Amino acid sequence: MRKYIIAGNWKMNLTLEEGYGLASEIKWMVADEVNNKAEVVLIPPYLHLSGIQNLLKDSNIKTGAQNCHHKNKGAYTGEISPAMLANMGVTYVIIGHSERRQYNGETNEQLAEKINAALENGLTPIYCFGETLWERESNLELTITESQVREGLFHLTEEQIKKVVLAYEPVWAIGTGKTATSNQAQEIHAFIRSVLTEKYTKAAAESISILYGGSMKPENAKELLSCADIDGGLIGGAALESRSFVEIIKSI
Ligand code: 13P
Repeated sequence: MRKYIIAGNWKMNLTLEEGYGLASEIKWMVADEVNNKAEVVLIPPYLHLSGIQNLLKDSNIKTGAQNCHHKNKGAYTGEISPAMLANMGVTYVIIGHSERRQYNGETNEQLAEKINAALENGLTPIYCFGETLWERESNLELTITESQVREGLFHLTEEQIKKVVLAYEPVWAIGTGKTATSNQAQEIHAFIRSVLTEKYTKAAAESISILYGGSMKPENAKELLSCADIDGGLIGGAALESRSFVEIIKSI
């Protein structure tokens, strides 16, 4: 059985005080849902991680980081290493979010190194992939998503890939209010699962959670999350407000 995961990616939002407030509200509101329905993950900015980790320590809610470096230490000013995250008790790390691919020029090749570093430190990578609007309008969505998954992940052994969570985030749906229809999302999720089956085994592909991200909100979550190959959500805007985030969890 695959695990449903509902993860809130706060991106570069909220002061420390606001972040603590949001995490406390969510902790209080999801107490019952956590065990039964899904793994709930909060992914705040680095600065807030330690405090929020502490605030959530007596709950089942997990934390994640939005990025990490591919080395464990060294002269890399401004960077955060996967070893530091693991040492703090962080569970997940987003690798290859489209905003980092776009604004920081991260390539599939570099992301493959980050995936290795995260796994070596016992973190669960959430590997993001997804096509741009131009790529979709040019009917390239299958080619692009397949190459992102192949180049970022297919150096892994079967044992390793089973420890990775994938997240399909069509770039044209992120922060735009334009959600992929459940058919569009399900098509890509099923396709990527078939690519995983071809490279590894059906058992491995069936065990990997593939999340959807891109304007997921309470109004569309139920339909998206009921698709056979959609195993949860990576939520941006709607994760910045406790009620909408918890509504999404409840819609599973
Ligand atoms: P939105 O939910 O704001 O579209 O963001 C999705 C996302 O990028 C999550 O990582």
